[in-house]
Amino acid sequence: MTSDPSEARSRVHPIPPTRWPTREEAAASALFSPAKLGPRTARTRTWVPAMVPWRASDDGEVTPDVRDWYRRFADARPGVLVLEATGIRDVPSGPLLRIGHERFVPGLRELADDIRRHSGGQTLALVQLIDFLAVRRRPEKDKFVQRFLELRRAHRDGLEQLGHAAAARGDDSAVRRALLELPHEQLLALLAPREREALEFGYRERVSDTHLPHIAELPRVLPELFARAAVRARDAGFDGVELHFAHAYTMASFLSRTNERTDGYGGSPAQRARLALEVFAAVRAAVGRDFVVGCRFLGDEIIEGGSRSEDACFYAEHFARAGFDFLSLSVGGKFDDAKQPKVGAAVYPYTGPSGHECMPTVRIDDAREPGARGPFGRNLHLAHAVREHVRAAGFETPVVGAGGINSFELAEDALRRGECDFVAAARQSLADPDWWRKLEEGRGAHIRRCEFTNYCEGLDQQHKQVTCKLWDRELGAPMPWTSAGAAALPLSHDGKRRLIAPG
Ligand SMILES: Cc1cc2nc3c(=O)[nH]c(=O)nc-3n(C[C@H](O)[C@H](O)[C@H](O)COP(=O)(O)O)c2cc1C
Ligand code: SF4
Repeated sequence: MTSDPSEARSRVHPIPPTRWPTREEAAASALFSPAKLGPRTARTRTWVPAMVPWRASDDGEVTPDVRDWYRRFADARPGVLVLEATGIRDVPSGPLLRIGHERFVPGLRELADDIRRHSGGQTLALVQLIDFLAVRRRPEKDKFVQRFLELRRAHRDGLEQLGHAAAARGDDSAVRRALLELPHEQLLALLAPREREALEFGYRERVSDTHLPHIAELPRVLPELFARAAVRARDAGFDGVELHFAHAYTMASFLSRTNERTDGYGGSPAQRARLALEVFAAVRAAVGRDFVVGCRFLGDEIIEGGSRSEDACFYAEHFARAGFDFLSLSVGGKFDDAKQPKVGAAVYPYTGPSGHECMPTVRIDDAREPGARGPFGRNLHLAHAVREHVRAAGFETPVVGAGGINSFELAEDALRRGECDFVAAARQSLADPDWWRKLEEGRGAHIRRCEFTNYCEGLDQQHKQVTCKLWDRELGAPMPWTSAGAAALPLSHDGKRRLIAPG
């Protein structure tokens, strides 16, 4: 035991010291060797996975800031660069990129050209295609009870049992008034689970809400929506698409063990995988074989009752058999166990245990606990399990591993041990977009190392322009270039943060 508060706090996993490779070691490494990605060959096995930077216009268009963001990653010539989750529907979704209509193609074409130019044609660029269901902000209690709650017999019965007989037999406004006057716990006890959730977290659609026509028809509409979006990505000049089957979004919800649809698209593992396979078939039919089509899905959902590694292996085998060009593994990131948002805010799927596994920090577990794994390479075992399973089934489909990758040693060991075929690093690439290039050129000592404390994720949570806290320490450092060609450093809306990593 210690009374020193600094020691009490020292449960974090320190960033492990590492030895950076020389240029020659990098040249001889697995990490900087080429690998097939369906019809293309990636120059190296380095991968920048999707990260939403909140820089698109409110109409979902590419902006100069979006272009700067991707140019900065392309400068380091990673093998593969995946664009942020990009919406496949033509519906307003704030400053998230969209690809749900032809009008988005010219902007995306400029982006694809930028990536090609800045990487010297050495980076394969993929668009991550996403569909998501409605999630509303947590309402004020008054508004919820007065306006949103659909009154049912059970509400009146509940009031009656609690001794409010007159209100229970009155008109709707009397019932609502009486409900509002109940102590909060009594009100919660009177509500059905989904009503409680709508009040406490904000209303959220589920794939099993098949009483809603637009949810019932998802299996009919999604294959075509994904296929059209993929064709636009191809027309814009990208090398391929990553179908977003991970985290809290529609396709992951179909794959989830929690999917209870009874229309042939839920229940058994095969039925849960059915829509994913139909989406893939439609995409492949639309874009042909000369375009990379892979997916990102979950090695483990982490949530109670959710899919586990064996489900991921089952899906992976079916995806490989269907002809997916790659399988990228992520973890968790679900709404089911997310923290309660403040009134007026929307629930954020990276705030509960599953979210913490998705973007693990140095505090993910107590560094003093025996067996504590820490964030570094934390989820590679899931990629490994999937890869072994897919290989045993006779397929060579490349597997992408991610989660706390921050050193050459970690990446190279993962490849050498056969845990994955590509190594994805999100936050380390954000902290220092040049890090892949510095590794390759034997300049590892100059790498700005990610601290894995998730300042960036906090900004994402607030839908603010994502930046890295380390960039701001060099607020005065000049830009290598800017979208406008001007010398001025682009800053965030609050004027306090660099929008682009120092050169
Ligand atoms: C700011 C931010 C935005 C992200 N956006 C996406 C996204 O759009 N799609 C996705 O699949 N993952 C997204 N992720 C998750 C990362 O791709 C990655 O899986 C996760 O951060 C773990 O990898 P890391 O430890 O290398 O950061 C995001 C992560 C961060 C930090
Ligand atoms: S803000 Fe920067 S240092 Fe912190 S976790 Fe994000 S990328 Fe890493």
